[in-house]
Formats: sequence, structure tokens, C-alpha cells
Amino acid sequence: MKRNTIVFLMCILFMGCKIEPSNKSIEKNIGYSKFKEPFRSQYHFTPERGWMNDPNGLVYNNGVYHLFYQYYPHATVWGPMHWGHATSTDLTRWEHKPVALYPDENGLIFSGSAVVDKYNTSGFGRNGQVPMVAVYTYHFMQGEKIGRDDFQTQGIAFSLDNGETWTKYAGNPVIGNKETRDLRDPKVFWHEATKSWIMALVAGNHVKFYRSQNLKDWGNISDFGIDQGAHGGVWECPDLFPLKVEGSDKEKWVLIISIGNGGPNGGSGTQYFVGDFDGTTFTSDQKEYKWLDWGTDNYAGVTYNQVPNGDRIFIGWMSNWQYALTTPTSNWRSAMTLPRKLTLKKYGNEYLLHNNPVSSIASLFENGTNQNIELKPSEKHSVELKVSNQANISFTMPNADVKLTFSNESEEKLALIYDKASNLLMLDRTQSGLTSFNYEFGNKLHYMVMTQLKDNFDMTLYLDKSSIETFVNQGQYAMTQQIFPIEPYTKLTFENLSNDEISIKDLIINPIKSIW
Ligand code: FRU
Repeated sequence: MKRNTIVFLMCILFMGCKIEPSNKSIEKNIGYSKFKEPFRSQYHFTPERGWMNDPNGLVYNNGVYHLFYQYYPHATVWGPMHWGHATSTDLTRWEHKPVALYPDENGLIFSGSAVVDKYNTSGFGRNGQVPMVAVYTYHFMQGEKIGRDDFQTQGIAFSLDNGETWTKYAGNPVIGNKETRDLRDPKVFWHEATKSWIMALVAGNHVKFYRSQNLKDWGNISDFGIDQGAHGGVWECPDLFPLKVEGSDKEKWVLIISIGNGGPNGGSGTQYFVGDFDGTTFTSDQKEYKWLDWGTDNYAGVTYNQVPNGDRIFIGWMSNWQYALTTPTSNWRSAMTLPRKLTLKKYGNEYLLHNNPVSSIASLFENGTNQNIELKPSEKHSVELKVSNQANISFTMPNADVKLTFSNESEEKLALIYDKASNLLMLDRTQSGLTSFNYEFGNKLHYMVMTQLKDNFDMTLYLDKSSIETFVNQGQYAMTQQIFPIEPYTKLTFENLSNDEISIKDLIINPIKSIW
């Protein structure tokens, strides 16, 4: 049986798939004001209430960044999928919007993308209004239940008021299904060189590329991946886009693929391929797996279409299917990663995709403190934290064995340990707070392999109420983790585990304001 069906049945059988009471009664019952419940992220996007997974339909239109997302409004576990909706003008402060797409007779609304159809190729535009077109997967649950393989098809819908209201296309589905399981998550973009729309669509263990002139009629032009990359789980949520190689005039194409299982630290993970796309075929001679993020909690991420300055902005779902349904939040579940700008750099023969939070996040920073710390071998130094787990913490460290520990009076500890000999950054959340809700959550150390480091490197940590995102050298390496400390960490301890004297330079701790 497919994972989504299992999840859905579990939710009905064991959790009762409860329709949640309104926000007002929840607030009254649990005694917390809106968005101040335990573990509510204060500067990461969360839905007001209900269940959220993948980001969908990331597109910029008329000054607005749209964030649609996999949404089940009636419970805090996965259920019949809708597209939730939020907007932002700076990718930092978000406004919640009404549900954009509801399930219909063709099925539930699974993941997909959105485009601004500037030339009205679809013909959906009226009186000079440019249509936004959403392209998504229909999941026909009844078909799956009776054991058919053709239960996922692709549909489209359009909006003439910048995403406020949507009309489904009467000719849906636009791509049918001939017995292919797991045919889903269309990512569509405009390919200027061939003046056509290109779609990347996953089909279980590979990607299929399609071309269209009008977003309605699609033809399969090539396939990629059956014998390349990681295949620990089905392929999901593809994305294909060009990036300039930093410091050169060269352009490469990057293909992002999420896999439901077999990620670098277990469960969900996001791999990428660097290669070329000639308008029809994607090729890559990359032999090894590459992970966009080494943490356990960055899944199903995709990038924005049509950002005016050409920036490639990525958002991921900050969870992991291993335990996503059981994380200890009350009337909502899951957050998104910070939006991150993607860049591509070459190190010798190796390309690395960097991802670093967009600069507008800094507009939430409050004034911080700056200090240097000198440590003899085995010496420790602690800094008091008064940031209520809402902070940006950055410093430069030598390429030497160092341990960092966040801790509080309740004996909760979150540690980051760098080991020079193995080039590993290890994150230990086994005692970071609540972990017992799921065995997989707190059962082991998580590691990040950093083979391209120099003598010194920069570390930047974004700590929120239920997450820590670690970036090395402005996103050369990234690691995203959920954590559930029952009270904020009040101390940050640096420990020198090397045999030399070391200095931690420019330790800056900026409190971060809430966006709610
Ligand atoms: C990824 C995913 C997608 C699917 C959606 C369903 O997390 O499984 O492949 O479209 O979630 O909610």
C-alpha cells in the first residue's frame, strides 16, 4: 500500500481524524494567545491551524510572493489534500489567505507548481488580465484503494486576481495516466530558448519531462534518472532550473529530487544533480549522491518561478515523513524552512549547490552582541542566552575540533560537534527536548560531511522555537533540524576539543523578532 494511503488510514483508525475546534475555542481551552502556543515557530511560516506538508505553487506575481502548500485544514494529521495559501512581499512576513484549491471529483489536490502566463498561451486571460496557472496532481483515492495504478493525473486551474480565487480547467485532467504509479508533483517553467512550457514530473523512480505551448496539451519529450542518483524511496517533488556558476560565465542546470526514504540521516531527504538541459533532455555525468541539506527536516523543497531579479529562491517543508505526524504541536503541525537563495559554485571538479537564507530575514534582527572567545585545549566557555530561542548566532571558527552546546535549567541539551579528521559536523538532538513522541526522532547523532572546507569557516545558526538551521560558509553546507525543548536554552557553551589554542571570532547573537 502507498505511504499516503497508510497515513490516511492510520489517521482515521487511530487518531480519529478529529475536526479541530475553531482557533478561538482552542485558545480559550489551552490558555495561549494566537501563535504563542508551545513550539510555534516565530519567524518561520506555519499555517494558522491544521496540517501542512510540501510547499506548492511558488511563484512571484505583481509584487507578491505566493506560497501555496499541501494542506488539510480539519485535523493536524495528513488528510484529503487542499492547497493552502499565504502571501508575502518580502519572503519574511507572511499573510494567511483562504484555501486556494479544494479536492474535486478528479481527486485530492497533491503537490505542483504555478506560473504567470504572461503571453496568455493558455487563453485563460480575459480583458488583458494575465492568468496565473496552477499545475498540480490529482490523487484519486478510490482508484488507489481498489488497487489500480492509474490514480494520479495532472490538472490545471487559473486565477485572474493574483491568486485570490481559482477556477479549475473544465478539460481536466490535462495529463492522464496509463498505469503509472506515483506520477506526480509537476514543476512547470517557461523555457525561453524554445518558447515553450517545460514540465518535470516524477514517475516512481525517474523524472519525465513534458513540453507544451498552452499548458493544456502536453507531450513527453525525455526521461531521466532510472540508473542515476539515490533511490532509497520514490522520487517526489522535482524541480529543474539554470544557475550561473559563481565566478564564471558558465551556466549549468540543476535538478532537485526529493526521496521519501533513504535521506542522508534517515527518512526523507533532498538530492540534486548538476548537469545540462538542451530544451529536451537533461543529462548529468554526476556519479555520487549530492544532498541539498544534510538535516532530517528539509523535504519536498522547490523554487520560485519568475522572481524579477532572477534569484533562485527555495523553500522546503521542515519535517520528515518518519515522524511528521507525531511531532508535539497542538492545533497546527509543521513549518517551512526559511526561504533560501540557491547559488552554484565549483570546487576543483565538483559543483556544490549552496543554500542560504534570503537577506530580508535580517530585517527581523534586533541589535546583538559581538565577542571573541579564546580557548586553550579542553577549555570551555559559556555565553548566557537571553533570546527565548529566537536568534541568529554567527561566528568564525578555525578548522579544529570544537563542541557547541545549547542548554537550559531543565537539563535539555542540543550539541553540535565538529570533527576535523573526518570533516564531519555532528548534531546531537537526543536530549534536546521532547523526543519520545517517535523513536526515529531522537535515536542517533546526525552528521553532515564537509569535504570542501578551508582553514577557517563561518557558522550561522537560526534558532526558532522548534527548529535549528545550521549554515556553514553562507550555505556551502546546510543542515535543518526540528527540536522541541520545553523551555528556551539559556546557555551556549563552546568547548575546545583540539590540542591547540583556538579562537572563536566575531560571535554575534542577534535576537529575532516574531513575524506574528
Ligand atoms: C511529498 C508528497 C508528494 C505528494 C504530497 C502529498 O511529501 O508525498 O509527492 O504530492 O506529498 O501530500
